[in-house]
Amino acid sequence: QPARLWGGRFEAGPADAMAALSASTHFDWRLAPYDIAGSRAHARVLHKAGLLSDDELAAMLAALDLLAEDVASGAFVPTVADEDVHTALERGLLERAGAELGGKLRAGRSRNDQVATLFRMWLRDAARRIVSGTLDVLDALVAQAQRHPDAILPGRTHLQHAQPVLLAHHLLAHAQSLLRDIGRLRDWDARAAESAYGSGALAGSSLGLDPEAVAEELGFPRSVENSIDGTASRDFAAEFAFALAMLGVNLSRLAEEVIIWNTAEFGYVTLDDAWATGSSIMPQKKNPDVAELTRGKSGRLIGNLTGLLATLKAQPLAYNRDLQEDKEPVFDSVAQLELLFPAIAGMVSTLTFHTDRLAELAPAGFTLATDIAEWLVRQGVPFRVAHEAAGECVRVAESRGVGLPELTDDELARINPALTPKVREVLTVAGSVASRDAKGGTAPARVAEQRERLRALAAEH
Ligand code: ARG
Repeated sequence: QPARLWGGRFEAGPADAMAALSASTHFDWRLAPYDIAGSRAHARVLHKAGLLSDDELAAMLAALDLLAEDVASGAFVPTVADEDVHTALERGLLERAGAELGGKLRAGRSRNDQVATLFRMWLRDAARRIVSGTLDVLDALVAQAQRHPDAILPGRTHLQHAQPVLLAHHLLAHAQSLLRDIGRLRDWDARAAESAYGSGALAGSSLGLDPEAVAEELGFPRSVENSIDGTASRDFAAEFAFALAMLGVNLSRLAEEVIIWNTAEFGYVTLDDAWATGSSIMPQKKNPDVAELTRGKSGRLIGNLTGLLATLKAQPLAYNRDLQEDKEPVFDSVAQLELLFPAIAGMVSTLTFHTDRLAELAPAGFTLATDIAEWLVRQGVPFRVAHEAAGECVRVAESRGVGLPELTDDELARINPALTPKVREVLTVAGSVASRDAKGGTAPARVAEQRERLRALAAEH
């Protein structure tokens, strides 16, 4: 008969199918180091409360150290009969500390407050890794922006040519959303950083244990206010899953652009061979798989969030076994992002931008029409009239099959007397871009400032 945590009132063990359904060690074993850290802290508060002697505490901690080593080396692994990580580690402790001493550690705690605490600990560490991976992508974007301080990109709205912008400005727009994703994880941590130890199964502990002392030892600034909430709530997991899904969506929007830019029709970029794949049948193919997998996995991250929310929505307080389903979706989101980060950073940092082609395409589609209108406004013409006049410039140029800079002085004057030849100073892409020089605009000096501020903010994390 395997060592179960709840054998006393049962005459028989569970059916095999029951045990198979119940088992979670195939995914919760990664919580083992956190479980052992929790056990150390718990042993200390039991000692402080007079429930373990000095010798017992020392022996308990020594056994836990041994167990930690054996877990790390793989000498101790869960068996099929261990229901979950907590059960497996209790077995491991009993084997090392003896049943008499080992059996004392379970006093005043439950797997419910254990798992609620350990899951938070794991997520807080994972959040730090996600921040670091996100920073790698952000750095790659900033480096490309730095490499191309003056290169032009045809800026788009509705995917139609809109106004020319700096390529760096566009790349940094993606970096800005990644910086918010990082901030979101920081904000999340401030809320999630509560230890649930001391909550027991749901009602708290009667043994005079100090939850704040456990919290402090486990790196939490505080313990939960409410033992029911501490064991039943998983909004910390859902919020974390949202932060990762949002990050995935932001990466997906970048990926979508790389996919479009990489088409023959756009021809904006060439992918480095190391970050592209070929086709098994079409020898000429070079496919943007990193970007496509990024886009694809963002769907999976959204699914993990919605699945978790659905798991939570109808659960009465406090703990229900449904909550065992909380971990896999979040573990999966972390694992997928950890696969993606180095690949996306590698792809972005090795992209070759065809800046000549970008510059050539930028004025196409009369993208300087707004510049004419705004130039007229600066000459005192009301914007309504200026917009009409600029529109007429487009109509005349289009009917003659020329660009806006090719309109003759006569044509301009006929459209509006205020349209003197001086308007041509904004009818270049460089002039247009340079004129948008307020904070947040695409003028080279503003973009360089933005890049340096972003770099400084990123360095704070
Ligand atoms: N393995 C469970 C989980 O992940 C924790 C165990 C609580 N089990 C119980 N019967 N109260 O949620």
